[in-house]
Formats: sequence, C-alpha cells, structure tokens
Amino acid sequence: MNAKRKRVAILISGRGSNMSALIAASREADYPATIVGVISDRPDAAGLRAAEAAGIAAVVVERRSFADRQAHDAAIDATLAGFGAEIVALAGYMRLLGADFVQRWQGRMINIHPSLLPGFKGLDTHRRALDAGVRIHGCSVHFVTADMDGGPLIAQAAVPVLADDTEDSLAARVLKAEHKLYPQALAMVCEGRAAMEQGRTLIDARGMVERNAAQVLFAPDLAEESVNIEDLARFTP
Ligand code: GRF
Repeated sequence: MNAKRKRVAILISGRGSNMSALIAASREADYPATIVGVISDRPDAAGLRAAEAAGIAAVVVERRSFADRQAHDAAIDATLAGFGAEIVALAGYMRLLGADFVQRWQGRMINIHPSLLPGFKGLDTHRRALDAGVRIHGCSVHFVTADMDGGPLIAQAAVPVLADDTEDSLAARVLKAEHKLYPQALAMVCEGRAAMEQGRTLIDARGMVERNAAQVLFAPDLAEESVNIEDLARFTP
C-alpha cells in the first residue's frame, strides 16, 4: 500500500467507464490515489451503480435541488469536504462548474476530454473529427480552468482514424485510450509529476524512463485494435 496516496473524488453524469478505470487503477498496490467518493449530478447515472458495486461512496447532488449554480457548487464542495478529497477528477461530468468553484480547486481538478485538444472542444467530438477528415484523433487530460476544455494539458493519447470508421467505432477506439490515459495522468498529478503553475503544466520527467508507463503521449498499436463496440453502451449526456 502506498502510504502517501492522495484522496481523489470523481464527478460523473453518466456511464462512468472512466470512473471505473480510475477505480480499477486505484486497486493496484502502488497506485498513488485512493478513490474516496463519487458524486453525480444525475440520479440515473449508470456510473453510480458501478461505484456502489465497487464499494465506493456514491452521492447524488442534483442541480434542481438548489436555487442556483453557486448553491449547487457549494453542495458539491461540501460533499467533497466530507470525503476529505484532495483532488477532483471529472469523468464525463456534463455540467459547467462556476468560476469560484473552479478557482478553489484550480491545480487540483482535472478532466478527460475525447479529442486531441485544443482541437474539438465541446460536444460531438468524434462526429466533428470525422467531418474534418483528421487522420489522427484521441483524448486529452487537462487541469480544469474557467476556460472550458482549455486548461493546461497533462497527457494525451492518439489513435488513428480509419477509412471505414463510424462515429461509434471511432468513439470506442478513443474510449479504450481514455481508460489507459486517465489513470496515468491522475497518477502524474497525485505524485506531483504534473503540476499546474502560472497557467501551465509543469512536467517532472525524472523517473519517466524507468517507469515507462508514465509517458505523456500514447499511440496505441493498431494491431491491438480489439474493441467490441457492441459492448460499449452509448453515452447519453
Ligand atoms: C468520455 O468520452 C469523456 O472523455 C467525456 O465524456 C465521456 C464520459 O464517458 N468527458 P464515461 O462516463 O467515462 O463512460
């Protein structure tokens, strides 16, 4: 057991497959984070059931229970405090967080986005990547700032766009990369190997060669392409 594990809470709105990837990684003896709780803004989020099945505290904090965004954010903040969270990982959390909340957690809150940022910020990234005809697509983990999907990058994973790709097949390939990337990026933050300073990410590369796993760019081998897209429920925000 890693004695200096960071206490990490995860915010979700839906399926929670990235959340599950982080929980699975945290089960490893030398992983630098413990997942102390999951918060969903939606009571019907499938990820809530997955968190509970994994024995993780899962709490619903619905927007409609509060008068305004500030009050909702405050309730989330109080729940995070109850968890004793030190770091927040957004994993398919589909609601914008207020400036005060973001400022309060700046440098301690990260997000995964299904594109190679700064390309394709926002929604429908796979459809837009296909429409744009890019040959390389992927996912990014970044620190969260007031600039939506615009915070400093921590790590990215690239995947090819194949000639016969559909939105679903491309989404499945990217999602597979997300599940590898997010645990590694979170580990970098928890160990202080990636830190946000003056609006940029400082990467401490020491030990990276030995660790090998902790690279900031992944390019999954085409030959390893084995995602069964039928197995992946479509994400409905
Ligand atoms: C992922 O593609 C993530 O990058 C994006 O929302 C999706 C969430 O999927 N932010 P899941 O809930 O983690 O399965």
